[in-house]
Amino acid sequence: SAAEKGGYDYFMLKEIAEQPQAIADTLLGRLSERGEIILDEVRLTDQDLRDVDKVFIVACGTSFHAGMIAKYAIEHWVRIPCEVELASEFRYRDPILDRSTLVIVISQSGETMDTLMALRHAKEQKARVLAICNTNGSTIPRESDAVLYTHGGPEIAVASTKAFLTQLAACYLIGLHLAQIRGVMYADEVAAVVEKLRQTPDGMRTLLDRMEEVRELARDLRTASTILFIGRHVGFPVALEGALKLKELAYMHAEGFAAGELKHGPIALIDEGTPVVCVVPSPAGRGVIRDKVVSNIQEVRARGARTIVIAEEGDEDVRAFADHLIPVPHTPTLLAPLMTTIPLQILACEIATARGNDVDQPRNLAKSVTVE
Ligand code: G6P
Repeated sequence: SAAEKGGYDYFMLKEIAEQPQAIADTLLGRLSERGEIILDEVRLTDQDLRDVDKVFIVACGTSFHAGMIAKYAIEHWVRIPCEVELASEFRYRDPILDRSTLVIVISQSGETMDTLMALRHAKEQKARVLAICNTNGSTIPRESDAVLYTHGGPEIAVASTKAFLTQLAACYLIGLHLAQIRGVMYADEVAAVVEKLRQTPDGMRTLLDRMEEVRELARDLRTASTILFIGRHVGFPVALEGALKLKELAYMHAEGFAAGELKHGPIALIDEGTPVVCVVPSPAGRGVIRDKVVSNIQEVRARGARTIVIAEEGDEDVRAFADHLIPVPHTPTLLAPLMTTIPLQILACEIATARGNDVDQPRNLAKSVTVE
């Protein structure tokens, strides 16, 4: 009913709007005044976590994209190797696992069969399994050694939005927690990131308030035959997620690429007017990756692409290469997906509704897939 949807036409729109609060809820009670991470609820001892010499992240669909982003954060902060793998591939290739391997399984529903089978395989090999899950008491957290609930609240729309961003927040918490107890980051370094994390819901609210242009753009793109998405670093999984949302909701062909890979093949797809959504990293710091993405944008533009550029507000130089510019509030590079994903969710949702699709119940898809 309309009441259940909180006045929105679709659950998906409601869930997109709830994202700032959902992130605040994921962080709630897990950050101290002094900016430390408090994860006593995770039933793995500090010693267990100090003994970890390798991390695997295993998930499906949108949750897999959260895992891809987490890899960048965990390796950067914790300095231990972290691999990300699709649950449906993981156990069939006989991965090397032992007592000192931490396997993080990410699942909104906690019932995805592929992820559950991967978790059982990891446990058989004696790895420690930590679940990131949104559904209390579901199978995956019950069978795991430990769980961090995302506290995002029920997600009704089939395509995942707020669950995805809360999974990211949970991954950041785990990464910082590991870095803290293993002594690889100083307390003040952790506190500085925590402060930025705390500020993200405000930035997300600001961003959500100015999505009207994205909605207009979406109506314009509804007849496109394909939309391509490019990004680097954490912007690469964001590009994959943007493309996945479009496939799921709009039933349109869409693909995400690592921007640096364009020249090795995908650039051949660019034709006059091909829409290319470009996820641009922050120019803060040395801005090396940002400059690389900007030159990739120039490359696609030179071949006729219509560029839709998601960049940090104040990055005025990108304007020259953007047919449409979508500014997002500043966040440190690793946290940027909490912002840059939002316009892509709205773009997909609005293109889908402009095409007459039911975004809450896309054809052929299920909220949770309990078969292998
Ligand atoms: C299904 C859903 C996706 C979801 C995936 C993984 O395919 O349609 O939206 O990302 O399952 O679900 P999980 O509950 O394990 O995160």
